[in-house]
Amino acid sequence: MLYIRRVHKWKCTRLLSIAVVLYTVMVCWEDLDHHVLSHVKSYTYRSLVNKYDFLRSSFHVAPNSNHQNDGVDGEKYQLLINHPDKCGSGGDGDNVFLLLFVKSSPQNLEPRQAIRETWGNETYLWSELKVNVRVVFVLGVDPDSRQRSQVQTALLLEDKAHGDLIQQNFDDTFHNLTAKLMLQFQWFYHYCPKALFVMSADDDIFVHTPNLIRYLQQVVRSDTGVTDFWVGHVHSGSPPNRRMKSKYYVSRDVYPWISYPDYTAGAGFVVSNDVSKKIYQATLMLKPSIYIDDVFMGICAHIMGVSPQKNAYFLGEGKAHPCIYDDMITSHGHTKDMHALWETVADPAVYSMYQGFFEIVYCTAIRMILLIW
Ligand SMILES: *[C@@H]1O[C@H](CO)[C@@H](O)[C@H](O)[C@H]1NC(C)=O
Ligand SMILES: *[C@@H]1O[C@H](CO)[C@@H](O)[C@H](O)[C@H]1NC(C)=O
Repeated sequence: MLYIRRVHKWKCTRLLSIAVVLYTVMVCWEDLDHHVLSHVKSYTYRSLVNKYDFLRSSFHVAPNSNHQNDGVDGEKYQLLINHPDKCGSGGDGDNVFLLLFVKSSPQNLEPRQAIRETWGNETYLWSELKVNVRVVFVLGVDPDSRQRSQVQTALLLEDKAHGDLIQQNFDDTFHNLTAKLMLQFQWFYHYCPKALFVMSADDDIFVHTPNLIRYLQQVVRSDTGVTDFWVGHVHSGSPPNRRMKSKYYVSRDVYPWISYPDYTAGAGFVVSNDVSKKIYQATLMLKPSIYIDDVFMGICAHIMGVSPQKNAYFLGEGKAHPCIYDDMITSHGHTKDMHALWETVADPAVYSMYQGFFEIVYCTAIRMILLIW
C-alpha cells in the first residue's frame, strides 16, 4: 500500500516537472522564435530590398495642414529656459566646432554636474585642444505636477550658476523623447546654425571628448567640406518591437512594416552641419508619431537621403577599458564612475602600463573582444 502510494507520488512529481519544463520551453520558444524571426525578416528585407519608400507617404504632413512642429518659435511647446547667445551673439558663432546636446531630465542634477566637471568642460577643451565646444543640456518639465514647481526653482538656480540649460514646456518622459530630439535640431537651426558638427548624447554616457575632437578634425582635414556625415553605433535592419510589455513596443498601426531604416543609437551620435539642417527640415514636414527618438531620427534622415556610417569606437554598454582608451569615443552606462574614468583617460601612467610585449598581446585580444561584440 505504502509502496503504491510512493510510486504514485513519484510519477506525479515527474509528470509535473515535465509539464513545467515543457511549458517554460514553449513560452520562451515563442519569444525567442518571434525575436529571431523578426530580426531575420527585417535584416533580409534591409539587405535585399532596402527601399523604404513607404515612409515618405506615411509620415509626410501636407505643408498646408495646421500641424505645427516648430516648437522653438513658441508654436508648440514654449521655451522656458533658453540661452540664445550661447554660440555667440546675433547667431554668428562661426567658430563653434561642436555643439554638444546632452539629453537630461529635470531631476538629473548630479550627472549634469559630473559632465560639467569632466568630458563636458568647455574651458578644458578650449585650453587643451583649442576648439570651441558648446555644451547644453536639453530637458522638458518634471512630469510629476506635485513637485514641478520645486524642481523648477532648483533648475533656475542651477542655470543661473552655469547658464547651460535649454528647457521646453513638455513633460520630460520616455514617450516624449521625440519632442526632445526635435528641440535639439530646432534649437541648432535657430541659435547655433553655423556649428560644424552637432552631437546628441545621453547624460549617462561617457564621451571621450579629446578623442572625439581629434577624430572630427581628421574628418575635416581628409574631406573638403564635410557633408552627409552621420556617425555612431549603427542599428541596421532592426525590426519594430511587437511585444506589448516592452518599453520599445510599437504597434502595427503606428509602424506596420517589418523593418526600420538604419539609425544610430540615440545614446550618442554626431552629424555634420548640413545633416542637422536636413533633419531640422524633416522635423517640420513629418508626423512625429514614433516616440522612439533614434528610430524617428532614422526616418527623418532616410527621407532626406542621409544614411549613417559605423564607427566601432562608439561603444555599447560599459565597454570602457584601458586597452581601448586610445581610440574610444563613447561608452554607455556611466553614472557613478564619470570622474574616475575621466581621470584615468587623461592619465599618461595608464598608457605606459600597456607597453610591454605581453600587455600588447593582452590588449589586442581585449580590443578584438570589445570591438567585435
Ligand atoms: C574646467 O577646466 C578648467 C581648466 O582645466 C578648470 O579650471 C575648471 O575648474 C574646470 N571646470 C569644472 C566645472 O570642473
Ligand atoms: C508629452 O508632453 C505633453 C506636454 O507636456 C503632455 O501633454 C503629454 O502627455 C506628454 N506625452 C507623454 C506620452 O508623456
